[in-house]
Amino acid sequence: MWWRDGVLYQVYPRSFADSDGDGVGDLRGITAHLAHLEWLGVDGLWLNPTFPSPNADWGFDVSDYCGVHPDLGTLEDLDELVARAGERGIKVLLDLVPNHTSDQHPWFRERRDFYVWREGRNGGPPNNWMSNFGGPAWTRDEASGLWYLHNFTPDQPDLDWWNEEVREAFDDILRFWMDRGIAGFRVDVAHGIVKDRELRDNPAATEDDNEHVRRLGQRLEYSMNRDEVHDVFRRFRSVTDPYDGVLLGETWVLDLERLMRFYGDDLDELHLAFNFVFLLADFETAQLAPIVAQTEALLPEHAWPTWTLGNHDMARFPTRWTRGDPGLSRCALMLLLTLRGTPVVYYGDELAMPDAEIPPDRVVDPVGLLDDPDRPGRDGARSPMPWTAEPGAGFSAPGVEPWLPLGELAGVNVAEQKADPQSALHLTRDLIALRRAEEDLRGGSYEEAVVEDGLWAYRRGDGFLVALNLGSDPASLPAEGTIAIGTRRERDGESVARSLLLAPGEGVVLRLARA
Ligand code: NOJ
Repeated sequence: MWWRDGVLYQVYPRSFADSDGDGVGDLRGITAHLAHLEWLGVDGLWLNPTFPSPNADWGFDVSDYCGVHPDLGTLEDLDELVARAGERGIKVLLDLVPNHTSDQHPWFRERRDFYVWREGRNGGPPNNWMSNFGGPAWTRDEASGLWYLHNFTPDQPDLDWWNEEVREAFDDILRFWMDRGIAGFRVDVAHGIVKDRELRDNPAATEDDNEHVRRLGQRLEYSMNRDEVHDVFRRFRSVTDPYDGVLLGETWVLDLERLMRFYGDDLDELHLAFNFVFLLADFETAQLAPIVAQTEALLPEHAWPTWTLGNHDMARFPTRWTRGDPGLSRCALMLLLTLRGTPVVYYGDELAMPDAEIPPDRVVDPVGLLDDPDRPGRDGARSPMPWTAEPGAGFSAPGVEPWLPLGELAGVNVAEQKADPQSALHLTRDLIALRRAEEDLRGGSYEEAVVEDGLWAYRRGDGFLVALNLGSDPASLPAEGTIAIGTRRERDGESVARSLLLAPGEGVVLRLARA
C-alpha cells in the first residue's frame, strides 16, 4: 500500500508558495513547486484545510465542505494540482474537519438540528465543559435563549454526530472528494467528534493528569473521547474503502492503549493514527525510546505506525526539540525517516527550519490572540516556506508582505541547501531515497538494540542498525558494517569493524555486515 511504504508531506497551503502576489500561498503555488516534492521523494501530500472559511481558525472553521477557499484558488486549481501531482506519482489528501463547522456555514442557519443546542442550567451554560481554546464550551444565542456547543472558538459550533443526517452529509462529502481523485483525508479532532449523549459534566482534573488537562481543570471524558466515535470511523471506511482511500487521524489521545483502538478491532477504522505521546515528549532518548517501544508493543497486528516531528499546532522541531543544535536536528530527521511506520514531513522540516519570530502586531492565530503565556500561539510554525535567499524568499514576489512574517533565513532555504550536499535538505532526501530502496527500512521489524544514556540504537530488519547519540557525551556501541548515511556526511561509506563511535548529536544508518 502506497501510504505504508511511502512518505507523506504536510503543506500549510497559505504558507507554501504565493503564485498571484497577494502575500498568501495558494494551490497554484503548490502546483508550481511539485518538482521540489518529487525531487525530495515524497509519495503523498496532506493539505491543511482548503475549504471556504471565514478564517476564525484559519480554515478549521469550514463554511462549505465541497469548495475551495478563494484565497487559495478554485476547484479547478485543486483538480489541476491533483492531476499534476499524480503525474509525478504524488497523491493528495485533504484535511477533513468533521467535529465542527464555521458559524457561517449555511447549516448553522438552516439546520439547527445538525448542532448541539441545549437549555442553560441555573442561568449559566448547560454543563461544565470547557473549550480547548479556553472559556466555557457553550455560547448563548440571544434570539432563542438556547446555548450551542463549541469545543474550540465560538465561531466553530460542534456538529451533532448523533444525528444520522450529519453522518449522511459527511458520507456525501467524502464521496464528493474521492470522486475527484482525492486519495484520502487527515481527520481533524478525530478523537472528539462524538459527545456524550446525555452531556454529563466532565470530571475535575487531578494532580495525576497531564498538563493540558490540568490547565483546562477537567478531563475531557464526556465532551470528547467517547467510544461511540469508533462507529463513525467504521462508517467512513465503508465509504472510502471502495476508493482505496486512506484515513489519517488527528488522534489527540495521550494514552497509547486507547490510541490503538483507533485502528479498529478488525483494522476497519483509521489507517494511521498520529502519536501525540511521542510528539509531546522531550527530544531525549530516555523519553522517546520507551514510547516507541511501547507503541510497537501495543500496536495491533498488521496496524501501521505513523511518526512526525511536528505540525501546524506546535513549535517546529528545531525550536521545540533540538533548540537549534544542527547535529540534533539531523538526528531528528534521521529518526523520523528510519522508524518503522509512515513518516509525515511538515513543510520546511526538510530544511530544519525553526519557528519564525512573530511580533505581537502580526499575531493572527486565535490561540496566540488569547495572549495566555500557557498557550503559545501557533503562527511561528506556520510562516512562509523559504525557497530562495532573495528578499521575499521566493515565497511571494519581492516587495510583497507575506501574510505571516518570514523566519530567520540564514542558510534556511531550498535554493542554498539544494546547492549544498551537506545540507539538512540533502540528508532528508537521501534518507527518503535509502528508505525507498531498502525493504528493511520500510517494512523491516523495529528492534531496540541499545538505550543507554543518550544513545539510542535500533535494528531495522536484518539489514540495518540506526544509532543516534542524543546525549552530550561521545557514545559507542559494538557494530560491524558500512555507514550508509551519517548525519556527518563525511562518514558516508565508512566501514565499521568492531565499534561504532558517535559524537554528541550524531547519528548513522549502518548497513550491517551479513554473517
Ligand atoms: C486541530 C487542528 O489541527 C487545529 O489547528 C485546529 O485549531 C483545531 N483542530 C480545531 O479545528
